[in-house]
Amino acid sequence: MNIAQLQQEIIKLKKEKDVCILAHSYQAREICEIADFTGDSYKLSVDATKVENKTILLCGVRFMAETCKLLSPEKTVILSAPNAGCDMADQMGRDDLLALRQQYPDHTVVAYVNTTAALKTVCDVCVTSSSAVQIVNNIQNKDILFIPDCNLGAHVAENCPDKNIRLINGGCPIHASVTPEECAAVKARYPEALLLVHPECVPAVSAMADYVGSTSGIIQYALRSDRKEFIIGTEISIAEHLQYLCPDKTFHMLSLKLICPHMKATTLVDVYNCLNGTGGEEIILDDATIRDARRCIDEMIRLGE
Ligand code: 13P
Ligand code: SF4
Repeated sequence: MNIAQLQQEIIKLKKEKDVCILAHSYQAREICEIADFTGDSYKLSVDATKVENKTILLCGVRFMAETCKLLSPEKTVILSAPNAGCDMADQMGRDDLLALRQQYPDHTVVAYVNTTAALKTVCDVCVTSSSAVQIVNNIQNKDILFIPDCNLGAHVAENCPDKNIRLINGGCPIHASVTPEECAAVKARYPEALLLVHPECVPAVSAMADYVGSTSGIIQYALRSDRKEFIIGTEISIAEHLQYLCPDKTFHMLSLKLICPHMKATTLVDVYNCLNGTGGEEIILDDATIRDARRCIDEMIRLGE
């Protein structure tokens, strides 16, 4: 079977089995093509709440599938590649945070959505990269403990000067691997290009950018801009998707290190196997985890409005 035939089989099977497929924008193009919804992690979990299908197949990483389950506990949520974790989400356990909470009892704990459901049970509010600044500004408390990404946290601190933001030493090793020296070299090679980066990059790289924003923010910025050339400082799939979306513009990758192996763990064969019942993993969360983790997601929705 070639790729197009496999895609046709998947489309037929998902209809027969009443499955809605969600693909994060970091997934390869052939996966996005068979998805019902694509987008960033927050958008996907909200999309899942709006569909009638009883089963959601999430092509992405585990924390995203968990967030879907938290928002749609009555649905069966399947993660396409059971080994697709997230280096950032796996950095911090519940006990680590409970110890920090004891150290900083007066701080509001703000967690990036790239955290496990177990960790979310002991956080006060979640944020996504697109909503972090607005939500932190809307929190009444001045003292914030921001976990786990110190780079996104530094971006928030810069944009919320009235808050005392305490950071910890965590983050995405893939985005954080890009150095300002590399960045300067790419900018020098393409002097006409605008640099768009994700706030998971280190502050010295973000400081060199023309725009710092979430996955969807970067896509929207490039689509709306009347400029013709861009350097994309996030996972390479975004540059690839943008090149298809805007064939009259040119997209350069900031670095070939920006490949997330977890996001790339899902293949079309995995999707096919999930649909025929021989692959993937159903996300099971106990009632207490759903109840407690859901609290900080509801708070995110409330403060984000
Ligand atoms: P989004 O929240 O933009 O989907 O990004 C998730 C992520 O893992 C970025 O590295
Ligand atoms: Fe996690 Fe980084 Fe991959 Fe995003 S790019 S899923 S933060 S490891």
